[in-house]
Amino acid sequence: MRKIYIFDTTLRDGEQSPGVNLNTREKVEIAHQLEKLGVDRMEAGFPAASPGDLAAVNAVARAVKDVTVIGLSRSREQDIDAVRQALIGAQDPCIHIFLATSPIHRKHKLRMDKEQVLETAQSALRYARKYFSKIEFSLEDAGRTEYDFIAQMVGMAIKEGASVVNIPDTVGYLNPSEYGAIFKFVKENVPDVEKIQLSAHCHNDLGMATANTLAAIQNGADQIEGTINGIGERAGNTAIEEIAMALATRQSFFNATTSLQLSEIARTSRLVSKLTGMVVPGNKAIVGANAFAHESGIHQDGMLKEKTTYEIMTPESIGLKESKLVLGKHSGRHAFREKLIDLGYELDDLQVNEAFAKFKDLADKKKEVSDDDLLALIEEKLVDTVEVFKLETIYVTYGNTSVPTAKVRIVKEANEVLVEEAEGNGSVDAIYNAIDKATLEEVTLDDYSIKSVSHGKDALGEVHVVLTQNGVSAQGRGLSTDILEASARAYVDALNRLIEKRVTFSNRENVKL
Ligand code: KIV
Ligand code: ZN
Repeated sequence: MRKIYIFDTTLRDGEQSPGVNLNTREKVEIAHQLEKLGVDRMEAGFPAASPGDLAAVNAVARAVKDVTVIGLSRSREQDIDAVRQALIGAQDPCIHIFLATSPIHRKHKLRMDKEQVLETAQSALRYARKYFSKIEFSLEDAGRTEYDFIAQMVGMAIKEGASVVNIPDTVGYLNPSEYGAIFKFVKENVPDVEKIQLSAHCHNDLGMATANTLAAIQNGADQIEGTINGIGERAGNTAIEEIAMALATRQSFFNATTSLQLSEIARTSRLVSKLTGMVVPGNKAIVGANAFAHESGIHQDGMLKEKTTYEIMTPESIGLKESKLVLGKHSGRHAFREKLIDLGYELDDLQVNEAFAKFKDLADKKKEVSDDDLLALIEEKLVDTVEVFKLETIYVTYGNTSVPTAKVRIVKEANEVLVEEAEGNGSVDAIYNAIDKATLEEVTLDDYSIKSVSHGKDALGEVHVVLTQNGVSAQGRGLSTDILEASARAYVDALNRLIEKRVTFSNRENVKL
């Protein structure tokens, strides 16, 4: 059985999804979970993009132990230096250098001919070789590059010491037989190709990322690149969970396996969705809420007789469990702790007490507290935010024939009380206007989304917002059984994160790469 190496780029290509803006603590939290999932390599970011990115990659590099941590770099020395700095403290550092190779990119983006592309990549690799023993080189837009030039570039990368060469379908243009054929061609025509690993990296513009990646595996790819839930630029990247489950479910067909702990898939998917604010569609393969739901009578009948009639893999295999113990307001601390353990959380006494108090609060408002509610409560506290502003109270008046008003009471830096009132087009607008007035922060609301954490009229609502101020964006989350309160909490959370970024950036103005 061939082992396929998993290169996760949730924190880099995934973070390039519109509206996604992870802070350092969130990146580290996801990195820890990716480590539990068992990815072999993780791309933590693009250090040259900003001091914040560099710091986040460094935090991930220091936090994880058993995974190769990778920093992305263009084919230039300043970028390579930024990766060097970002990977200080990594147990197993690797640099990922890329340069576009297709005629379209050469002509319009790079304004270079083939010779210049080759030389630019060659000198970047030579420079990187002085500092890194592990180098991955990517031929950006390889999918639309001439075969002979692909062969030339891969051959050059091998000579210059790359250990992995990636052949991306950057714009998601190819179909499986075309993408697979490139790997076959490279395997058969590039001298010394057996000395390196070949990697597949697909985008999902035509919905073929998973199929293309599997075709690459069938044609000799040793590593695949992707993201959790398939998030990423435009239509996203290959979803890692889809590849892992395709290889596991059709093992005798692919004769290939990964080192992933499949039972960590559901938890990883939930965490990534929560922290990025990117909701997983119900019909998403493997991790969508309906992926294991059987609605039609005929299917239900089949399932009751024999599960394999309509189930090709089990929900348990990706870590979904059927809830046996439902908690309510009479549940005690012992049952609560047992439930947390069952859900995979070993919290210390202090954390249990804090979570238990929140659970009791919620149980007063809801008859039954579901596993999803509990997970939302616990995961809300996974990544702490520095609270400059703390929302204390909020009052809203609304009638469909009157102008909505909101009054908020916010405490600034634990001592200054700010009370303001405002009107708005709707209740949420009124709340946000009142918060703006109280905090005196001038921000733009770029994104607002709301979802229900569990089922029923009394379900917890989770709001996700993205705010921008002077070109800097931050996202925020709020959780409550009342969606107006959740909206207010999300907004204040995002404001706190913006302020944190502002402070971090001004302290880092003088960072020299
Ligand atoms: O899609 C792509 O080509 C990339 C490269 C940087 C590998 O993300
Ligand atoms: Zn990509």
